[in-house]
Amino acid sequence: MLSVVDITKERLPFGKVDSIYCDPPWNQTVLDRFYKIAGAGISPQFDFFVEKLVEVCLRHCQGGTWMIEIGKENLGVLIDKFSRKSERTAHVYVTKYSSGYGYLVVFPPRNRVMPARFPVIGGVKLVRTALLAFGNGSVLDPCCGCGTTFLAAKKLKREFFGNDINRNKIEKLANRYALEIVTT
Ligand SMILES: C[S@@+](CC[C@H](N)C(=O)[O-])C[C@H]1O[C@@H](n2cnc3c(N)ncnc32)[C@H](O)[C@@H]1O
Repeated sequence: MLSVVDITKERLPFGKVDSIYCDPPWNQTVLDRFYKIAGAGISPQFDFFVEKLVEVCLRHCQGGTWMIEIGKENLGVLIDKFSRKSERTAHVYVTKYSSGYGYLVVFPPRNRVMPARFPVIGGVKLVRTALLAFGNGSVLDPCCGCGTTFLAAKKLKREFFGNDINRNKIEKLANRYALEIVTT
């Protein structure tokens, strides 16, 4: 199930899920670019965007695991700042990509022992490994783009809820895999 929502302005039309996986924009320039491509007007300040993203994670995944893939440390600092109110401890894994190193921030369920290392490569394989390691059941990606998380969830036969501000990307994904687009 898919939706086209600007997460800084509207709520998602979905309920609670077991895991969230998200690869969000990682700085103001990238955020501005996505807003321009989506024809979504002036983009908000980056820290406001991250605050809203964390709110989405808390609203839809209370008691479960959420993972945010970050390309840059400043995004990690903001995620940490805005997630403190959830009293969750973040686990940060350094992961190797074809283009270098990135970070995977994981907020595990309480009392869960986390693996010390998390060796993965990137793309669908990264998401699939992360989903397998840290959760089970339904998956939400609030900024799903062209559907890397969807492909990983599909391989694992998990129910998928995806959203993006860019209607073109969502429609392509919906048409290609016969997914339903729901409205708020
Ligand atoms: C790094 S890309 C994600 C790529 C994705 N993993 C894929 O497989 O294509 C970040 C995505 O965030 C979306 N985005 C940016 N601002 C958003 C917002 N306010 N609400 C929802 N989605 C947003 C962009 O349109 C973009 O597709």
